[in-house]
Amino acid sequence: MARERVVLVTGAGTGMGRATVLFLAEKGFKVYAASRTPENLSQIAGERIVPIRLDITDPQSVANAVGAIGTLDILVNNAGYGLVSTVEDMEEEEMLEQFNVNVFGLLRVTKHAIPLMRRGGGGVIVNISSFLGKIGLPLLTMYNATKYAVEGITDSLRYELRDFGIRVHSIMPGFFDTQFARSNLVTNRATFDEDSPYASMVSNLAPQIVEQINRGNDAKEVAALIWRIIEDEKFPARVTAGEKASKFIPMRKELSDEDFERRVREYYNL
Ligand SMILES: NC(=O)c1ccc[n+]([C@@H]2O[C@H](COP(=O)([O-])OP(=O)(O)OC[C@H]3O[C@@H](n4cnc5c(N)ncnc54)[C@H](OP(=O)(O)O)[C@@H]3O)[C@@H](O)[C@H]2O)c1
Repeated sequence: MARERVVLVTGAGTGMGRATVLFLAEKGFKVYAASRTPENLSQIAGERIVPIRLDITDPQSVANAVGAIGTLDILVNNAGYGLVSTVEDMEEEEMLEQFNVNVFGLLRVTKHAIPLMRRGGGGVIVNISSFLGKIGLPLLTMYNATKYAVEGITDSLRYELRDFGIRVHSIMPGFFDTQFARSNLVTNRATFDEDSPYASMVSNLAPQIVEQINRGNDAKEVAALIWRIIEDEKFPARVTAGEKASKFIPMRKELSDEDFERRVREYYNL
């Protein structure tokens, strides 16, 4: 009998991460649910779901946690948050931390997952990017930059790892109703000051984004997509998820930069 396949999901505490853990366990995978606070996963822990403590900003924590798993077939790089700040206002620390989590954190986990997959004869890496990995928006420049980086990492790794039978994919979700807008949008104080020169843009755009996230698609859709990627060896390199991404990403490809920008300005009243 073939051994059960082993998955590692980062940012498993809430949202897409948690939905993916539950979905894949249901499908028979053994799932390591990595979180900064694994105790919050104790209710779903069981034979197929093993919560583990992982701080993706700490290289030693990553080396220890991933190393301890021993065997790994699938990695879902999901953990991430969004900085909402103008470039003019952002603090050095905010700028660095956004990349430390969304980009370097993803790379740290991937670095330690690759040798496990190579030794096992192959694997699948799914990076949770965003449709904002292909489309820019004001106030989200740093978040955009991290997700554009995730798209680049996906493209490069596909070449680097193909000969080892390791497939790398990215999912570009649109808006999804998770904890993202409630807990994981970090706002810069000066940007949100009512006397900021950006105040009218902030008061127009920020509530629209929060509402679109909170009225977004169900995280289970991403979980099901991850499962399809795992099972289909011919799955495309990247895929959109959710209504807004499936609307904007094809439009981004078809229109000139200027025409696309015009559409986004009209849509958000920018
Ligand atoms: N919701 C959306 O509309 C949307 C759209 C496009 C892309 N995405 C992307 O989807 C992924 C999952 O987000 P979600 O929507 O499911 O939101 P979520 O419910 O807020 O979950 C995000 C997870 O990321 C981890 N995380 C957050 N801040 C972190 C930090 N500073 N350091 C380390 N880990 C951190 C947390 O995991 P632990 O607390 O368990 O450690 C958290 O559970 C993210 O990469 C996000 O950028 C979301």
